[in-house]
Amino acid sequence: MSSGAPNAPIPLLAGAAIDGMNAYRALVEEAQRDPEAYWARLAREHLDWQRPFTRTLDATNAPFFKWFDDGLLNASYNCLDRHLANGGAARTALIFEADGGEVTTLSYGELHARVCRVANALRERGVRRGDRVMIYLPMSVEGVVAMQACARIGAPHSVVFGGFSAKSLHERMVNVGACVLITADEQVRGGRHLPLKTIADEALSMDGGENVHTVIVYRRTGGAVPWQAGRDVWLHEIEAAQSAACEPEWVDAEHPLFILYTSGSTGTPKGVQHSTGGYLLWAALTMKWTFDIRASDVFWCTADIGWITGHSYICYGPTAVGATQVIFEGVPTWPDAGRFWQMIGRHKVSIFYTAPTAIRSLIKAADSHPEVHPSRYDLGTLRLLGTVGEPINPDAWRWFAAEVGGGRCPVLDTFWQTETGGHMIAPLPGVTPLVPGSCTLPLPGIEAAIVDESGRDVPNGNGGLLVIKRPWPSMLRTVWGNPARYRAGYFPEELGGTLYLAGDGAIRDPHTGYFTITGRVDDVLNVSGHRMGTAEIESALAAHPEVAEAAVVGRPDATTGEAIVAFVVLKGQRPVDAEAQRVADALRAWVGHEIGPIAKPREIRFGDAMPKTRSGKIVRRLLRSVAKGEAIEQDTSTVENPAVISQFSKAA
Ligand code: WT7
Repeated sequence: MSSGAPNAPIPLLAGAAIDGMNAYRALVEEAQRDPEAYWARLAREHLDWQRPFTRTLDATNAPFFKWFDDGLLNASYNCLDRHLANGGAARTALIFEADGGEVTTLSYGELHARVCRVANALRERGVRRGDRVMIYLPMSVEGVVAMQACARIGAPHSVVFGGFSAKSLHERMVNVGACVLITADEQVRGGRHLPLKTIADEALSMDGGENVHTVIVYRRTGGAVPWQAGRDVWLHEIEAAQSAACEPEWVDAEHPLFILYTSGSTGTPKGVQHSTGGYLLWAALTMKWTFDIRASDVFWCTADIGWITGHSYICYGPTAVGATQVIFEGVPTWPDAGRFWQMIGRHKVSIFYTAPTAIRSLIKAADSHPEVHPSRYDLGTLRLLGTVGEPINPDAWRWFAAEVGGGRCPVLDTFWQTETGGHMIAPLPGVTPLVPGSCTLPLPGIEAAIVDESGRDVPNGNGGLLVIKRPWPSMLRTVWGNPARYRAGYFPEELGGTLYLAGDGAIRDPHTGYFTITGRVDDVLNVSGHRMGTAEIESALAAHPEVAEAAVVGRPDATTGEAIVAFVVLKGQRPVDAEAQRVADALRAWVGHEIGPIAKPREIRFGDAMPKTRSGKIVRRLLRSVAKGEAIEQDTSTVENPAVISQFSKAA
């Protein structure tokens, strides 16, 4: 890795939204003194309410908290309409760059008009407040329009990442009870076309798919698509038939804005339900606080709308504050690994928010192909950098700071989760001296702490479980259709039932109090910043007719953070050599088809049986060591069948 990192610290930003440590401390103290008054003040100052709230927090049914619940508002109104006056309609909202490089820009006025047309079309098709709309779209202007149109009429959306399979889409569609699906003919990434509508139709043809009465199709490429007359309609046709004015549906602050599925430690994904008021407040406020967003900025978050980052820092946060942002259809490495740097120059990006995985793969590329090194591009417009999704190793942090940020730009390592709605622990550019690899301090009002297995605080310098001690407005409200899973999973009894358990390990520096996240403590993997439950991959593998048993673990990977390693026992004989290769390839393809390409195991290893304890439990810690290629020095005396360990030590 070539990092000519200057050792001079990156200067704090002058005149930031939270300007200096004293301003930060004042907010932290305000929040501690009277949390409700603090959040009420912020909600009044940063959102437009159709009817002001009089109740701030209702904790009577904890941990099912309600925030601002007698207030009325509309998310799309807050993201669009309120910016239109005084020439605001002409301000650029979206700069879209397609995979092939074509650029389209949309003003706030144009975005508003498109959202209204689609919202009207949804209403005409019978979609009412509370009805769920499924969105399965590529990164596109249309994706943002579709989400905002749902918000406008109070129809919670559920976006499924375009890389998920028909089965995954179907599972989520049925679980959420969607009546409409919005998709595209094809998705284009890295020059390759993926037939989204064909995949969507496969999902719709399975049990329960008949409950979707309307499929709206965005024509991205004009490629051939299967079509069901009556059910399927073209997006451009319904838009053309509608008015560009649409009265927003005023909803109470607790009305679900969206349900976004994420992986947990069981085989089924959970629908994380977010509210309208509390969620939007934090999306807007963190744009101001963490990103110090200003009218002159061009913001670019490289996430996909299929993940929470694309919800909070593409669809809702930037628009809620009237920002100008870049959205990108393609991938960082196509047509070459200079794509991000070239786009930053072309669109004069000033705030750049991306994933550690992308950074690591671009470091690798720049090391072997100097022509795509960031120094070859004009990155002079950058003033802030951010990372999200996984721990960033200090080397990658330093390279990003030096080679991309030129040693001038604060690098904000933002820790948060699908469930938290927005940033939880993150440096503030005008406040926090940076330390590579640390997400530093909680945002004001976020009571982060580290506890042991029984919920007791651990001293700084000792590792433990990351928890949040008080409710905050943008926290998830429940797991869709499964309140018991919400309570048991996030407010476990073992910790006393009142602490929000993030599922990550963390440690605080004894001197600075800074947090460093050490990774998940449950059976959730983080592969290229994508969250994957090992149980989901295990059940996909186990569903294959040749598989008797499967166990999935992660092993550290220099580029993707973690890599998926699957241990498989077949019903027939343990395959060796070429046969092992053939079965492994078939199983990888199978997982791709069952869940999506992002869940394909990097390695599959075969054994005659799983290493188990006498009581029949798979010995996962052993498998983790085997996956890492470590010599087995652990005590294997409790393992019933230690002989299989050596079989598993070889990759197929
Ligand atoms: C998990 C949440 C946050 C939006 C994208 C991912 C890991 C996230 C960081 C960070 C270390 C991080 C955690 C977390 N994670 N950001 N800055 N440093 N780890 O959202 O899919 O809900 O995943 O991502 O393990 O629990 P998600």
